[in-house]
Amino acid sequence: MDYREYIVKKLNVAEITAADVSLPPNTEMGDYALPCFKLAKVMRKSPVQIAEQLKDSFVCDEIISEVSAVNGYLNFKLDKAGLARAVLSEVLEKGEGYASSKEGNGKTVCIDYSSVNIAKPFHIGHLSTTVIGGALYKIYKFLGYNAVGINHLGDYGTQFGKLICAYKKWGVKEEVQKGGIHAINALYVRFNEEADEQMQSQAREYFRLIESGDREANELFEWFKSLTLEYVNGIYKKLNVTFDSYAGERFYTDKMQPVIDELREKNLLKESEGAQIVDLEEYGMPPCLILRSDGASLYATRDLAAATYRKNAYDFYKCLYVVAYQQNLHFKQFFKVLELMGKPWAKDLVHVAYGMVSLEDGAMSTRKGKVVWLEDVINKCVEKAYSVIDEKNSALENKRETAEIVGLGAVIFGALYNNKIKDITFSYDKVLSFEGETSVYVQYTCARANSVLSKADGKIELPPTYVPNTAEYEVVKTLAELPETVHAAAEKYEPSLVARFAVDLAQKFNKFYIECKILTAEGDTKKFRIALTKAVHTALKISLALLGIGAPEKM
Ligand code: ARG
Repeated sequence: MDYREYIVKKLNVAEITAADVSLPPNTEMGDYALPCFKLAKVMRKSPVQIAEQLKDSFVCDEIISEVSAVNGYLNFKLDKAGLARAVLSEVLEKGEGYASSKEGNGKTVCIDYSSVNIAKPFHIGHLSTTVIGGALYKIYKFLGYNAVGINHLGDYGTQFGKLICAYKKWGVKEEVQKGGIHAINALYVRFNEEADEQMQSQAREYFRLIESGDREANELFEWFKSLTLEYVNGIYKKLNVTFDSYAGERFYTDKMQPVIDELREKNLLKESEGAQIVDLEEYGMPPCLILRSDGASLYATRDLAAATYRKNAYDFYKCLYVVAYQQNLHFKQFFKVLELMGKPWAKDLVHVAYGMVSLEDGAMSTRKGKVVWLEDVINKCVEKAYSVIDEKNSALENKRETAEIVGLGAVIFGALYNNKIKDITFSYDKVLSFEGETSVYVQYTCARANSVLSKADGKIELPPTYVPNTAEYEVVKTLAELPETVHAAAEKYEPSLVARFAVDLAQKFNKFYIECKILTAEGDTKKFRIALTKAVHTALKISLALLGIGAPEKM
């Protein structure tokens, strides 16, 4: 249950929403608090008077047992036994469906994420878009939305002409087939280092051949594409992400002209030094380039066509673009252009920007040859996870499998845990620590709860009335926050909220675990504690799953 909503409903004041209800600095004051300062203007009274007035009209019940007005705040105390029973029975009843909802039913959310570039390295810079987008996809589905995952492939451009040219000159079919993306990327790098003017002009010709539908050029291109996708799909599988569409930039080749025509009809196109642009000076932005002077389309042109296509194909409620903040201007520009075209849905396009990921040793240079491939980061993390696990519990069965789950979890969680706009430095030791705010810590706690449950005699029974002690109550209250957390994560496009919830719940549970006997307790106390442990296990598994992370039964 969402207690903030519950309070808001009972208060029944139009201006108050669940977001206004906060947590007081200490639980002595109450479990929730409502600051009345915001209301002073609307209600034309002092916050102190408002708090008093709201207090007088509030009717307590079996969940909210006490209301007090203090210095312009309205403090609410929950009935501990009533709350504990309500929360635990809800979690136990709903199981893995706890915190899911139907709020998104009938709404489609397109999520453009990962969006790899064909024949280019899949590097650590793609980690955030892949895991943030992947988590949002799961979170929206969990809330009943129809989520559409789109991998807007970077498969358009003169670089493919270069690649064909390099392959023709230096490539060996069997080697490329075997070396996959690494081999094609090496050819591309070599072209950039060694190509002379003659090769450059051949490359332009090959690009033209791809465009004009030449069979050989297109077969080569498709081959490079399939080698790239085969490779990235292996990584997607590990990271637990899926896509419903791989319609990339090329897909829009024949869908740009109508957009260009419409821009022209609406008098938005302007010529500038031979190029076609949409002037955005009035909005404090440089012009949005639509066609180069040689008539070639641009990244923005394809994004305009893609957004239009998506609106028609999916009739989205929102269309998210999970892309690094370096592209802030690009998104602002093309969103603006759609707005100027009079598309009412332009307001439903959202750039979900995130910060840079670098490795601790400072390596994250995209300069030739110094790229950090995501695959290497994953492999190293899994290797390290193995030694961490081996050290902690060398008798564990399935150490390899566990290390895989733990190592991958650490990569995902490491990229997700912080507010997404922050630049982060990825440290293997930090993400694999059993103590820190890590997935390993959460997974370990989950395994600990699982071990308690497997020793308990099976049946989970919630005692009818049980007044929880402080440690137990803290766990209960945190459990109650999951539905609101998932909702907020979707609304703010911030999966880190779910990651933080998991760490918070794990911390509260561990405090309880250290302070309270579970299996050796008696009567209702024992029953309650086992039920609490089960609920924590369920909620931790849900949170991890929403992020694409598994939970080993044993660690
Ligand atoms: N492939 C692009 C890149 O690597 C990202 C594409 C993002 N999506 C989009 N619709 N522009 O920079």
